[in-house]
Amino acid sequence: MASSVQRAFDLAAGDYDRARRRLVPGFDDFYRTAIDSIPFEREDEVEVLDLGAGTGLLSAFVAYNFPRARITMLDVSDEMLAQARKRFELGGDRFRFVVSDYADVPLDGSYDAVVSALSIHHLADARKAVLFGRIHGVLKESGVFVNADQFRAMTTELERLHHGRWLARVRELGVGENDLAPALERMKLDRTATLDDQLRWMREAGFRDIDCAYQNLIFTVYSGRK
Ligand SMILES: C[S@@+](CC[C@H](N)C(=O)[O-])C[C@H]1O[C@@H](n2cnc3c(N)ncnc32)[C@H](O)[C@@H]1O
Repeated sequence: MASSVQRAFDLAAGDYDRARRRLVPGFDDFYRTAIDSIPFEREDEVEVLDLGAGTGLLSAFVAYNFPRARITMLDVSDEMLAQARKRFELGGDRFRFVVSDYADVPLDGSYDAVVSALSIHHLADARKAVLFGRIHGVLKESGVFVNADQFRAMTTELERLHHGRWLARVRELGVGENDLAPALERMKLDRTATLDDQLRWMREAGFRDIDCAYQNLIFTVYSGRK
C-alpha cells in the first residue's frame, strides 16, 4: 500500500517545480553548496545515486556540473519520477530511474557519490541512521554522501523562530497560497532531526571529513567521505 509520503508527492508531481524557488528561499546557494560538496573534477565519469530524486532537480544540477556523470534517480513516487524522465528524455542511458522506497529496500550498486535533497527528513530518526549506514555501504572508497535537507532546531523555541522566519520569507518572495497550502500540508509529514543528531549518525555510519557547509532558516547541506 502506498505510504502517505508517496501519496503526497504523487499528487504534487505535476506542479512541483514551479514554486521551488519561492519555497526554498536560499534556492541557488542551497543547491550550489550541494554541488560544491561533490569533490570530483568536472570531466570525471562519476557514478551518482540521487535518493528521493523527485522531478530530478538536484540531478539536473549534478548533470550540468558533471557532464560525464551517470546518474541513478531513485524515488518512491512514480509520478515524481515521471517528471524526471521527461526532464532527461534526451539524455540517453546516462540517466536511470528506479521506483523504490529507500527505507525498505536495500540499496544496490556502487557509487562515487550519493546525493539527496529535501527527502531524508521524511524518515523516522532510527531509519535515517540505518539509511546512512546503507549509503556508506554502497559508496566506493573515498566516495561522498551529500545531504541537502531540512533540519530541526535544537529547542522548540528556536524551531518556532526558524519556521516563522521561513514562512515570512516565502511570503516576501511572493509564494501563492495555492502553492503554500499544499506545501504546509506536506510538511505535516516531516520528521526532521537536529543537525547534531544527523552529524552523529554520519560519524556512527563510518563517514570521515564530515562537513556542514550550509545552514539557513530550516535548511542545511552536509557531507562526508567514506
Ligand atoms: C521534496 S521532494 C525533493 C525532490 C528533489 N530531490 C528536489 O530536490 O527537488 C522529496 C522526494 O523524496 C521522495 N521520498 C520520500 N521518502 C522516500 C523514500 N522512503 N524512498 C524514496 N523516495 C522518497 C518523495 O517521493 C519526493 O519525490
